[in-house]
Amino acid sequence: MRSRDGVNTATRTMTNKTFELLDTSTGKKSSLPVRSGTVGPDVVDIAALNKDHGVFTFDPGFMATASTESKITYIDGDAGVLLYRGYPIEQLAAQSSFIEVAYLLNNGALPDAKQLADFTASITRHTMVNESLLRMFNGFHYNAHPMAMVSAIVASMSAFYHDSMDIHNPRHREIFMHRIIAKLPTISAAAYKRALGQPFIYPRNDLDYCSNLLHMFYAVPCEPYHVDPLAAQALDLLLILHADHEQNASTSTVRLAGSTGANPYAAISAGVSALWGPAHGGANEAVLEMLEEIGTVDNIPKFLAQVKDKASNVRLMGFGHRVYKNFDPRAKIIREMCHKVLAKMGRADNPLLELAQRLEEIALKDEYFVSRKLYPNVDFYSGIIYSALGIPRSMFTVMFAIARTAGWVAHWQEMIGDPSMKIGRPRQLYTGPVKRDYTPIAKR
Ligand code: CMC
Repeated sequence: MRSRDGVNTATRTMTNKTFELLDTSTGKKSSLPVRSGTVGPDVVDIAALNKDHGVFTFDPGFMATASTESKITYIDGDAGVLLYRGYPIEQLAAQSSFIEVAYLLNNGALPDAKQLADFTASITRHTMVNESLLRMFNGFHYNAHPMAMVSAIVASMSAFYHDSMDIHNPRHREIFMHRIIAKLPTISAAAYKRALGQPFIYPRNDLDYCSNLLHMFYAVPCEPYHVDPLAAQALDLLLILHADHEQNASTSTVRLAGSTGANPYAAISAGVSALWGPAHGGANEAVLEMLEEIGTVDNIPKFLAQVKDKASNVRLMGFGHRVYKNFDPRAKIIREMCHKVLAKMGRADNPLLELAQRLEEIALKDEYFVSRKLYPNVDFYSGIIYSALGIPRSMFTVMFAIARTAGWVAHWQEMIGDPSMKIGRPRQLYTGPVKRDYTPIAKR
């Protein structure tokens, strides 16, 4: 049997394999079912473990735990493979557009010409935000981090679209998807303009998604602004590469917040906040800071010595990944693109790019990184391109958020549309005090 997304539903769950478990203290045996996906490692279904044995599993950081079943994105970390709905990221990067990818992630299949035109038109029609939302930006201090503003404004959207949003209504979910994808660039540009003290620039619906984004960033009311098509194209590619990455920290956050039945704008806002951290989306900003701190190629050995010294707490930012133990395929595409973009902009001799390449070269030959399978990730080169496009450092993670919104909302829709959805509620290994009596303050 084939479903609409082309997945063979009959082979989704194989039940002929089991995982045997023996409780050595009681001698009780359990046979745990093993489930197979369409591709990738099998998973042991432990749902009955607590009921049968009274124990939980312990896996801090989800090192070995699949938190959900999903049909959206597949990563093979050892082979450096990334597929959106089955399509390799390399093919999408070369042939697709961000809007088409957003459609693909959310609908499960590539659109035909009419579906793409309708989707694009709907996204374009939803680009404006309520004026009251724009006024809320005035409440932020001029030097507020844009991620803080974006997270707060996205959460505030739940106040504007609460009564009209029934999460169990598929049409309402679809409208939400269109709205949030359409409005994130407008909100992000407003955060940027707030920091500059410049007037907000309204969206232009005659422009494509990325050209409009650049227009809202860089146009000013007093003079004409012409979008550089090369910049728009480079940005579109970056958005494709960042659009989804299965159950990463921010996507899992969106799922967890959304699993309570919370307003989806609030769930997306939680995702924006989770993305901000330097171990996740904030790494692109941290990479540029790191490169500037290193300064010159001569300083690389000293910096790497610091990285290898565990006491220093210094990491090589833009390196390493929980899932990729080989090249991050997105990093390869971005590195190549870095050269093209900088060459076309007449800035081929970019010192930061040279430094980054030398740093990569040296690290990839160093036993510390080799033995730990640490390779450049998506964030190692992305900041260099964002800088070349004139995007300020504090906005890098916001650009990531704009892209990842397409993935967040796809995961939220997949979860809410699943009739067997449960609230996400992990358990714990308690190591605090056992029951003790309260001591009045005079006796402590
Ligand atoms: N620099 C130096 N050492 C590292 C690095 C690094 N960037 N990444 C991992 N290690 C070491 C780590 O110290 C540990 O060593 P040991 O076994 O001796 O204790 C080993 O490698 C395993 O690292 P881990 O922290 O246990 O691995 P993790 O899967 O929990 O962390 C990571 C993944 C991405 C948080 C981590 O590699 C990291 O902090 N990288 C730098 C930040 C970064 O670039 N983040 C962007 C990730 S990709 C985009 C995104 O997801 O948003």
